[in-house]
Amino acid sequence: MPIFNLGSINADLTYRVPHIPSAGETLAAQSRVQGLGGKGANMSVAAARAAARTIHIGAIGADGQWAADRLFEYGVDTRHIFSVDAPTGHAVIAVDKMGENMILLFPGANQAIGTAHLATAFAEARAGDFFLFQNETSGGIEGARMARAQGLRVVYAAAPFDASAVEQVLPLLDMLVLNEVEARQLHASTGLEPRALPVQDVVITLGSKGALWLNPRLGTDHLVPARKVDPVDTTGAGDTFTGYLVAALDRGMPMEQALSLASDAAALMVTRHGTADVIPDLAEVHALRGG
Ligand code: ATP
Ligand code: RIB
Repeated sequence: MPIFNLGSINADLTYRVPHIPSAGETLAAQSRVQGLGGKGANMSVAAARAAARTIHIGAIGADGQWAADRLFEYGVDTRHIFSVDAPTGHAVIAVDKMGENMILLFPGANQAIGTAHLATAFAEARAGDFFLFQNETSGGIEGARMARAQGLRVVYAAAPFDASAVEQVLPLLDMLVLNEVEARQLHASTGLEPRALPVQDVVITLGSKGALWLNPRLGTDHLVPARKVDPVDTTGAGDTFTGYLVAALDRGMPMEQALSLASDAAALMVTRHGTADVIPDLAEVHALRGG
């Protein structure tokens, strides 16, 4: 069944720096690379590379056809990427020697997605399909409502964190994916511990410590430790994890196995410089796992 991914599309301008600059500091970068990114595009590429039929719902400006072309080349269905009267989104990313990053986002066209765009895409959706989204585009809350009404399984990655958006979509979700910081922010804004959230499955990614699956219905916690690797760039690790996880669930894999596959894909991702362009494919992840 297809994954409908309402997702941001960015040009990622990545600068390698000796350290993350602080306020007021001027710092020379050691290199600069431009690639395809955006949390949404990264998730679509990850899902497609994990062998799922992935339909991207997004927007680009007149300067962004290269990004839609690249998504198509990576196996993503791009028929619902619309051209709008705004510049394509971009991100300025600084990556330090430890692989940590700082991201400055220009949303641009990503904020021009309206309900008409969503309705056109959802005309193709069937009950049981997945709807995936995050916080880098407009239309997320409306999309979740429409998806829920049509019986899609709704998965939300709460990044970048926006307390009001999360609170509005919580009742519409089947699965919530968030990192440790976002989990703390959600606790602070709602007063609810992750285990008390009204969502069937909650997955908290813990960086090099792995990922934790909380299932309040079963009353269980399941920790997936991360594979030991030498990270060079953690940008897009969470997106790779989420795209792989949803793709594996879409193929009917049990949750524990899907989490393990997603964790290995993300571990491989942090050993590479870049974002969408370097997300590993299934063959590479299987090779890492020993065939
Ligand atoms: P980002 O915003 O950088 O994409 P994130 O903060 O959303 O990432 P993280 O929790 O940092 O998400 O990482 C997501 C997943 O990637 C982790 O659950 C883990 O599986 C994998 N991962 C991240 N960092 C490492 C690491 N150093 N070693 C191995 N795996 C890692
Ligand atoms: O999660 C990484 C992504 O965040 C980058 O690709 C960048 O475009 C920003 O959206």
